[in-house]
Amino acid sequence: MRKPFVAGNWKMNTNSYSAVALAKDVASGCSDIAGHKIDVAVCPPFVYLQAVAKALSASSVAVGAQDLYFQQEGAFTGEISASMLKDVGCAYVLCGHSERRHIIGESDELINKKVTAAISGGLLPILCVGEKISERETGQTEQVVARQIEEGLAGLGAEKVSAVTIAYEPVWAIGTGKTATAQQAQQVHSFIRKLLSQMYGEKLAQEIRIQYGGSVRPDNAAELMRQEDADGLLVGGASLKKDAFLAIIQQAAEKG
Ligand code: 13P
Repeated sequence: MRKPFVAGNWKMNTNSYSAVALAKDVASGCSDIAGHKIDVAVCPPFVYLQAVAKALSASSVAVGAQDLYFQQEGAFTGEISASMLKDVGCAYVLCGHSERRHIIGESDELINKKVTAAISGGLLPILCVGEKISERETGQTEQVVARQIEEGLAGLGAEKVSAVTIAYEPVWAIGTGKTATAQQAQQVHSFIRKLLSQMYGEKLAQEIRIQYGGSVRPDNAAELMRQEDADGLLVGGASLKKDAFLAIIQQAAEKG
């Protein structure tokens, strides 16, 4: 039985005041939702991680970072290591988010180093994958997602991969208001689980959580979560509004 997992990716939003206020609102809202039925995390910008972690320290809501660098320390100006993230209270870290792949230009090889460094540093990576609209329209969705997973997890044995969550976020659904239908999401999630089963065996494939992300809202969360292989949601825009985010968490918790 996979415990539902909802994470809010705040992207490059909030400020020192609103980040802490939002975190506190999420924490108090989550205390009313049966905490043991669902895992919840928020991923603020780097500079607010410590303040948000402090605000959430007595709550069931975990903190995640939006990225990391794969080196442990040294002359890497502007970068942040796994140990720094651990040090300020992070449990999770996003790796290979679509915006980092397609705006910043991160490769599968770099993302693999980040996933590996995250696990070595004691963090739980959320490996984000997903096809562009042109790739979907030319029938390449499975090929693209398989490459991102195989290369993203390269060199990691089953023991390490058990720390990973996969987030399927079709690029065309991110920030566009155009959600994948629940059937489209399920099709890819089920493909991902089969692929994981081929790579690591059925037992581990059944344990790994697969989130859906891309224009998740309170009005589509329940239907997405009803799909067999939907184990959670990675929420962007709606995670910045406490009522919307809490409504999404509530619906995901019902699967728990
Ligand atoms: P939106 O929910 O704003 O579409 O963003 C999804 C996302 O990229 C989460 O990581």
